[in-house]
Amino acid sequence: MSLGKYKSQYPRVAQLKTAEKLREHLDQEGIDLEFDENLNSGENSPFAKTHQLRSGNKIGNAFCILPMEGWDGTTDGKPSELTKRRWKNFAISGAKLLWGCEAVAVQPAGRANPNQLIMNEENLDDFEELYQLVEREHKTAFGNSDGLLTGLQLTHSGRFCKPNSKTKMEPKILYSHPVLNKKFGLAEDYPLMTDGEISELIDDYVIAAVRAQKTGYKFVDIKHCHGYLGHEFLSAYDRDGKYGKSLENRTRFIREIVAGIRAEAPGLDIGVRMSIFDWMPFKQGPEGTGIPATEGPYKYAFGGNETGLEVDLSESFQFLKELEKLDIELLCTTAGSPYYNPHIQRPALFPPSDGYMPPEDPLHGVARQIAAVSEVKKAFPNFYAVGSGYSYLQEWLPNIAQNVLKAGKADSIGLGRMVLSYPELPADVLEGTPMKRAKICRTFSDCTTAPRNGMISGCFPLDPFYKKMEIHETLKTIKAS
Ligand SMILES: Cc1cc2nc3c(=O)[nH]c(=O)nc-3n(C[C@H](O)[C@H](O)[C@H](O)COP(=O)(O)O)c2cc1C
Ligand code: SF4
Repeated sequence: MSLGKYKSQYPRVAQLKTAEKLREHLDQEGIDLEFDENLNSGENSPFAKTHQLRSGNKIGNAFCILPMEGWDGTTDGKPSELTKRRWKNFAISGAKLLWGCEAVAVQPAGRANPNQLIMNEENLDDFEELYQLVEREHKTAFGNSDGLLTGLQLTHSGRFCKPNSKTKMEPKILYSHPVLNKKFGLAEDYPLMTDGEISELIDDYVIAAVRAQKTGYKFVDIKHCHGYLGHEFLSAYDRDGKYGKSLENRTRFIREIVAGIRAEAPGLDIGVRMSIFDWMPFKQGPEGTGIPATEGPYKYAFGGNETGLEVDLSESFQFLKELEKLDIELLCTTAGSPYYNPHIQRPALFPPSDGYMPPEDPLHGVARQIAAVSEVKKAFPNFYAVGSGYSYLQEWLPNIAQNVLKAGKADSIGLGRMVLSYPELPADVLEGTPMKRAKICRTFSDCTTAPRNGMISGCFPLDPFYKKMEIHETLKTIKAS
């Protein structure tokens, strides 16, 4: 069903022009979001706060660029000119923590698309060049690269692997999921990854981390989010053997990887990007609006209760205790999955082509992530916690984010879509420059719709570089049809 014909029932953020209007709307909708009416800039701004990690590495301010795939590497997993352009934009954004800057596969079979970057021996020089590019561009823009911390997000895409063709999924799964197997056309008895294959994969993570350190990166993220493999371990309640059922078994994957990295790459910081809560999958309802894809009880939502529609952080907290024991300080929070419940993962007014109209005002989605991270910070003050999902806040992003930082509800504000359309937003906020309205991401979701239809990602509606591309016309046709 095309979603083009449906109109959202929620007001656009750009219409909430004054603090009174915003407050009135939040009150009316029962959305718990606080904001500062006035912004601080310069050294006294909470955005300028620095942090020294236990490892000694320093983070120069409280803005983080979140990882975002571009679907534009070469087929042998090297960065293209488009990849470099994106990383350059991240480098000159003003943010001091670059978390990623995109998911990088640790083995070819684990790629999310045939153009995903791969960390292997052949690509070492390319990864080193990317790291140097970030350092150089940041220095040119800001005079030095003090406090700039760049890591690499290591991944295996599990259920969502498409290593060889943009149209052919080649899933690697840990257990048969009653809803997701069906949704993505897998038989109930689709083969599971064996414990032996998992052991080999753990070795590949460790080797990739060693290579990341060798090429300059200061930390690696062992991705546990968005329904990809790391995240699937956490809900492997039905899996037999040493990686399933008990929490101890479901967290064995991260423990074994971390042990390997500590032994082989001493001094390399380790971070985890985690979906701190998940819900059941959603689908389009009769009016195009998202509705739950199944009826409760639902047991696979890690960080959710058995309704599949509410947050319950008790197991997430147990996982975080494991991370603390592993001496991990860097935590990047997110929620759900872009493949089966995008409205909780990246709140948007305009859904991607494989999505659904938002079943709630997207501000609820932002508030839910902020509240969950705040709970994490209260219970685990020693994590350096990055929050996500802020782009939907648009004009109000700095005001709400500043309030979050001042209240200690997160340590760093992660930016995803907003920096595709408006890369220098962090620098503007830090300097006290008013936001450039024409560059504000309006959550049109083209950066997700394009790759879902086999194209590269980018901000086609607002970034002049992508706007003028021929494929922008193709994308418009797809959206209209
Ligand atoms: C085009 C695109 C690609 C993404 N790729 C990744 C990725 O490679 N790894 C990851 O952890 N998250 C990825 N994400 C999720 C973002 O990091 C972020 O969590 C999400 O966009 C919500 O933040 P925002 O509201 O600032 O956009 C991607 C998001 C977008 C829009
Ligand atoms: S395409 Fe541009 S405006 Fe649309 S969601 Fe992505 S970054 Fe935002």
